[in-house]
Amino acid sequence: DWTTGNVIEEQIALIREQVGDKRAICGLSGGVDSAVAAALVQKAIGTQLTCVYVDHGLMRKGETEQVEKDFVAATGVQLKVVDAEERFLTALKGVSDPEEKRKIIGREFIRVFEQAQAEIIADEGPEVAFLVQGTLYPDVVESGGGTGTANIKSHHNVGGLPEDLEFQLIEPLRQLFKDEVRMVGQELGLPDEIVQRQPFPGPGLGIRIVGAVDKERLDLLREADAIAREELTAAGLDRDIWQCPVVLLADVRSVGVQGDGRTYGHPIVLRPVSSEDAMTADWSRLPYDVLAKISTRITNEVADVNRVVLDVTSKPPGTIEWE
Ligand code: XMP
Repeated sequence: DWTTGNVIEEQIALIREQVGDKRAICGLSGGVDSAVAAALVQKAIGTQLTCVYVDHGLMRKGETEQVEKDFVAATGVQLKVVDAEERFLTALKGVSDPEEKRKIIGREFIRVFEQAQAEIIADEGPEVAFLVQGTLYPDVVESGGGTGTANIKSHHNVGGLPEDLEFQLIEPLRQLFKDEVRMVGQELGLPDEIVQRQPFPGPGLGIRIVGAVDKERLDLLREADAIAREELTAAGLDRDIWQCPVVLLADVRSVGVQGDGRTYGHPIVLRPVSSEDAMTADWSRLPYDVLAKISTRITNEVADVNRVVLDVTSKPPGTIEWE
């Protein structure tokens, strides 16, 4: 019968058998699935696993530290952090088209990740043969169910590497639904901030700035987002909402009045939604006092923001993210 304990025991045995004395790599995104998959594989094969975290500079406040410190402390995992903020910001400079941003972020991500893989192989040798992925049951069904290998073309000339590296996949969450993954993560002792995390898009805050992305705008949005998250958590609303994107309208300015004078600042959009699966969503009817608190704090505490607006659009027609 199904218990998280059984699932963990069973997967550990399978992973040990599959990997043998070879080595594995796992990319961490900060999200639940990759974290639980990595923790499970770490439990099975210990230091034969190396995790890679690409810091693209588009994460929310505190999220990179959660991976670097809390996740490592909870699991003892061997972690390689690649600080690629400058590279991503340079590639994104002046780009405001949403699809263009997504393409750039995706492309840079693969390049940086592959380079990290190549470095790990250069350090640890050709026995690096496995790639861990946090594929869930719904992903398996959606993609038609195949298992397999990942073909990674090496763009970087690291001594003695074959042109094409073929990894076998380890997918320890293939039979699980999201809530089961959370239970497994909890059982493995992962921090609540990771296990209970709401969905967050891969391109991160890059697609929550309407307009071009730069460090200053990211820092501003990080502050506003942190305030909204803090107040939603304080109000006990984390489980009631699916997620609440906070969006900076960087290309819009409006007139305001603050202290002793006129301001000309940017609006912040709150986009709280309720959903079962993100395919459809409704805007969340948050209590007015919570909205008021968020609005007051953001306009008081975040320089250059003089207006907070609420998105009351369901999906469809609006998507959850603004870009
Ligand atoms: P939309 O905006 O399409 O979002 O209604 C649906 C859900 O998907 C998330 N999302 C992404 N997740 N990479 C991701 O991993 C992406 O590029 C991406 N874009 C959107 C979004 O946060 C919401 O939960």
